[in-house]
Amino acid sequence: MTEGRRPWVVGVSGASGTPYAAAVLRGLLAAGLPVDLVLSRAARLTLLDETGIAWNDAPGAWPAALADWLGRTLAGGQRPDRDELAGQVATLVRVHSHGNLAAGPSSGSYPTRGMIVVPASTACVAGIALGLSKDLLQRAADVTLKERRRLVVVPRETPLTGATLRHLVTLHDAGAVVAPASPGFYAGATDAQALVDFVAGRVLDAAGVPNELFRRWTGELGAARGGSTGPGTVEGDQGG
Ligand SMILES: Cc1cc2nc3c(=O)[nH]c(=O)nc-3n(C[C@H](O)[C@H](O)[C@H](O)COP(=O)(O)O)c2cc1C
Repeated sequence: MTEGRRPWVVGVSGASGTPYAAAVLRGLLAAGLPVDLVLSRAARLTLLDETGIAWNDAPGAWPAALADWLGRTLAGGQRPDRDELAGQVATLVRVHSHGNLAAGPSSGSYPTRGMIVVPASTACVAGIALGLSKDLLQRAADVTLKERRRLVVVPRETPLTGATLRHLVTLHDAGAVVAPASPGFYAGATDAQALVDFVAGRVLDAAGVPNELFRRWTGELGAARGGSTGPGTVEGDQGG
């Protein structure tokens, strides 16, 4: 018996950070993994604001918009191959409207690998923590939790209210991985895209998806800068 399509559900909510969503999506597609994508109503505003792309869930509209979105990075240098992206989008991605509560990810009997919510607004964090299921994104996240599948939530807000902090603890205690959009600077990033890719790489790590989006820690201080002060040492820490 051959295994059927088992996608990652990716929910994009209306927090700032559409480059994080694009980087995670590129990583999933590069790994050859199918994706069921849901953009919340508010995510259309952030996507429009941050990229100029006017999103439309209609089957004839989204593939070109998605390939366009994923083809953009914040780096000036090498760009993803547009034809390759368009091919991956055509073969691996399904898009569901945020209002379509009859879509597959609304039910636990629809097979998925899990769900990544990136970026996650404080409203969506609250909605998932409280089980509101106000749209397909929140319902799919609730389903992921109840089925004990992997849910990775990537909040993007600062500072945080007490309510959001409590909702994040609720998500953690329910089994979700809370992976804030919080780039590290030890991997030698020299541009904004590298910082975005660091976050996306750690999010994919949390999901168990192999990726090479960032340079991993080797145990050598300064290695990412091309130099080294020796394993686990700090300059001037060697004694006399
Ligand atoms: C341009 C723009 C940027 C926003 N950035 C954030 C943000 O970074 N974090 C956040 O929690 N909400 C942000 N919001 C507010 C959310 O979009 C709003 O709370 C919305 O209700 C979220 O709905 P959703 O969770 O269904 O997507 C932003 C709104 C706009 C229009």
